[in-house]
Amino acid sequence: MNIVVLGSAAGGGFPQWNCNCRNCAGLRNGTLRATARTQSSIAVSANGTDWVLINASPDILAQIRATPALQPARARRDSGIAAVMLMDAQIDHVTGLLMLREGRQLPLYCTASVWRELNGPLPLVPVLSHYCGVRWQALPLDGGIQVPGIDGLRFTPLALSSKAPPYSDHRDHPEPGDNIGMLIEDLNTGKSAFYAPGLGAIDPQVDAAMRRADCVLVDGTFWRADEMIELGLSGKTAADMGHLPQSGDGGMIAVLDGVEARRKVLIHINNTNPILDEDSEQRALLARHGIEVAFDGMEITL
Ligand code: MLT
Ligand code: MN
Ligand code: ZN
Repeated sequence: MNIVVLGSAAGGGFPQWNCNCRNCAGLRNGTLRATARTQSSIAVSANGTDWVLINASPDILAQIRATPALQPARARRDSGIAAVMLMDAQIDHVTGLLMLREGRQLPLYCTASVWRELNGPLPLVPVLSHYCGVRWQALPLDGGIQVPGIDGLRFTPLALSSKAPPYSDHRDHPEPGDNIGMLIEDLNTGKSAFYAPGLGAIDPQVDAAMRRADCVLVDGTFWRADEMIELGLSGKTAADMGHLPQSGDGGMIAVLDGVEARRKVLIHINNTNPILDEDSEQRALLARHGIEVAFDGMEITL
């Protein structure tokens, strides 16, 4: 299977338009060794031509332009994106659907709770019905599915402990299916990847998926639990936002130390996170633990 990281940053991207934190300012004025990143999305394929877009970022048009494999040009109007899958209904993962409105009707794989958000409080589905329209394919929480046109891959959604989006009427009372991770298995090679860009806690089934996968691409949003508070940018902790920080007891580094995957990759990185600074001690610490930091355009072949 081929995985391309289209966007490796959390909501806002890096640098964020209005942010003057050390990272954002340093990238703009050239004093920081770091790379700009667009918002959170990956694409997965078994044959290099037909792709599942996992999360539709507001930066999707730039991401498609940067990724020729997504544009095979077999007809005058064409796309390599055969289907879209959503891990949650957060703005940084769904608003790119609006940018795909010139295409043909999109098969949209999401859970029932994400589908409800997109028909109610964030009504992308009714709006898109006046353009390409979407065809809902419900993602189950009790088994795997295959996607027509993407032969040889099985997708198994796992409910995650995280948070519903800020606009949701149950932001602080999450329901199973508000946030999922995806175990992606290549039925021909037996290789697998686990993708979870928004992960608040390691539940037993997540632990099992991470132990099984050859490659994990997991929540790299924050280094510290109180990162946004410490920088004076927000009153919220990582946990308030549904994210497990990397540092500290039971943090993502400790979790990944217990996982044998060949590739351990942090993804959905917030612009405040010191790991974006390639010269930071935090980045060096990750390297010592065999943990990679995703970047836009990163390709993983399993
Ligand atoms: C999150 O996952 O918490 C988001 O990146 C927040 C956002 O989209 O602004
Ligand atoms: Mn996000
Ligand atoms: Zn910033």
